[in-house]
Amino acid sequence: MTAPLIDLNDGCRMPVLGFGTYSIDDPDTFVQAIDAGYRLLDTATRYENESQVGRGIAESPVARDELFVTTKLPGDAHGSRGPRRELSASLERLGLDHVDLYLIHWPLPRIDRYVETWQALIALRDEGLATSIGVSNFLPEHLDRLVAETGVAPAVNQVELHPYLQQAEQRAADERHGIVTQSWTPLGRKSNLLDHPVLAEIGARHGVTAAQVVLRWHTQIGAAPIPKSATPERFRSNLAIFSFELGQDDLDRIAGLETGHRIGGDPRTHEEF
Ligand SMILES: NC(=O)c1ccc[n+]([C@@H]2O[C@H](COP(=O)([O-])OP(=O)(O)OC[C@H]3O[C@@H](n4cnc5c(N)ncnc54)[C@H](OP(=O)(O)O)[C@@H]3O)[C@@H](O)[C@H]2O)c1
Repeated sequence: MTAPLIDLNDGCRMPVLGFGTYSIDDPDTFVQAIDAGYRLLDTATRYENESQVGRGIAESPVARDELFVTTKLPGDAHGSRGPRRELSASLERLGLDHVDLYLIHWPLPRIDRYVETWQALIALRDEGLATSIGVSNFLPEHLDRLVAETGVAPAVNQVELHPYLQQAEQRAADERHGIVTQSWTPLGRKSNLLDHPVLAEIGARHGVTAAQVVLRWHTQIGAAPIPKSATPERFRSNLAIFSFELGQDDLDRIAGLETGHRIGGDPRTHEEF
């Protein structure tokens, strides 16, 4: 089973659920994830596992053009020239001639070079080194500025999103620009989210796990989650969420779990060098 595809604003399509790779460095795990049906692999220069992801892709019998590979520009490469250098190095490590999606990892508003960086990504897309381009952790004001100053909206904005941090305003801002919101830490990583009794109750009614309830919730609110698991049994079940549907009452109860608590960095202040 593979995940359905979602339309991007540049005419491309992306799997609505992907495989988060942070902290996984065994190529065989990527081979197994692809074998389980994952077609989107989400890595980043900062994860220091692009070579291993590339080896997994090379060893998998699934053809390259059936896969959707995302990587991300590190903070010390913001500017007009850094993106070309960094994407070339990422492609070398991945063993690929293009990525499907290249993201600016963080906006770094203090150094204020994200518009210049975005212009460089537009050029890389036009040359075919990245089929689609997007951003990560960009707030509504950062998106407004990118669009006002370059006329090009990102295809994707990858942000922290889970039932404790539902990002209603951010999702509305993304939608205004036709941007797909992709959810990082979709399962709440090391929080107690998956032990929440409301998720257990909803799961019991549908005959699924709390993690499956959460991942289905993402797709039903229009977001594209990229759960990470290094455990085959878990990553297989994380993909098996398309044969049930949450009802409005389930969605309302999950809406009530919001705490506004961030697990990761705050884009206003996060520094990444
Ligand atoms: N753009 C950004 O700034 C940014 C930031 C953070 C993350 N990301 C991306 O988002 C991906 C996902 O986020 P994340 O890794 O932070 O957190 P996550 O996917 O919310 O949670 C991962 C944790 O949940 C566990 N888990 C996975 N499936 C489970 C299941 N079915 N039942 C119980 N536990 C389960 C995993 O354990 P096991 O592995 O032991 O199974 C792991 O400890 C990352 O890998 C990365 O690709 C992007």
